[in-house]
Amino acid sequence: MSEIHIPVLLNEVLELFSPFAGQKNLVYFDGTYGRGGHFKAIFEKFEPAKCYATDQDTQAIDQAKKTWAAEINSGRIEIHHQNFLEFVKAEKAAGIDMVLLDLGVSSPQLDQAQRGFSFNKDGPLDMRMNQKQELTAAKIINEFESEDLFEIFKSYGEVQNPARVIRAIVNDRTTKPFTTTLQLAQLIERVDGWQKKGFHPATQYFMALRLVVNRELQVVEEVIPLLIRQMQDKGRIAIITFHSLEDRLVKNIFKNSADGFLVNKKVIVPSENECKINVRARSAKLRVFQKGPEPEKPDKFALRRQQRDQNSGS
Ligand SMILES: C[S@@+](CC[C@H](N)C(=O)[O-])C[C@H]1O[C@@H](n2cnc3c(N)ncnc32)[C@H](O)[C@@H]1O
Repeated sequence: MSEIHIPVLLNEVLELFSPFAGQKNLVYFDGTYGRGGHFKAIFEKFEPAKCYATDQDTQAIDQAKKTWAAEINSGRIEIHHQNFLEFVKAEKAAGIDMVLLDLGVSSPQLDQAQRGFSFNKDGPLDMRMNQKQELTAAKIINEFESEDLFEIFKSYGEVQNPARVIRAIVNDRTTKPFTTTLQLAQLIERVDGWQKKGFHPATQYFMALRLVVNRELQVVEEVIPLLIRQMQDKGRIAIITFHSLEDRLVKNIFKNSADGFLVNKKVIVPSENECKINVRARSAKLRVFQKGPEPEKPDKFALRRQQRDQNSGS
């Protein structure tokens, strides 16, 4: 069982937070602590006076509390087992300077068969990041109507035509409910077959179920405006996504906000080298938003005129 998670786009995140270097009394919020790779690097580089971290996964939080016991005792770090949306809704994020949301699941979550995220490993059809919530992937597959399954796989999984798989699910579940990941993955493989080399036919179906079980898109949509409202002027929000729908959502909210601007107009993606070292980085995309008015770009003609005047005067 892997306990390691390699933080994705770490250098790029540190670089985009670099305007905060050397500032006093910084407040940092990591909404997706995971195994704390980004958190530790940001803590060490920027030395914030106060840090908050949330994760809805109990294992992640248990480990975080052990790692940071001394700083939790001193009050410098607070760690909460909570959905980041609940934390922000409770106005606990007021006055923050730096926010990081590294969305999706961590490597330990994917690697542990019993969490039910992987179509390669047999485990319960679960997919809950928060093991205390009720809705599981099995509940969706066994109980949702065909048209709801269609919408889930089509809109969230971007599966072109999920109808045959849905018919097979609805047929099979009348005799035997779906309980395991391999039961579902094998049905999809049987019905859809391998259409793209190296790309398991269950990939998009599993992604769609995961997004719905954890309400991932809704949570992001709700949290961004609240974060923007609560953070300091010139505060920055960095969001890493792993799904095109999620990236589009983040980009549009940042772009359309009247309260700040996208720091990088072009999305930031991992280098080839990072993808070689960490295949899970492959689909990552980073966008960073800054609160407040965008600084005016220097007028190069005015600068040139100024230089000429200085030169001729001297
Ligand atoms: C990609 S991992 C983060 C890895 C982390 N940056 C690191 O370096 O170790 C995502 C983590 O965020 C958590 N998570 C995802 N959505 C969440 C939400 N809405 N609220 C709280 N935690 C969430 C997951 O449980 C998972 O542990």
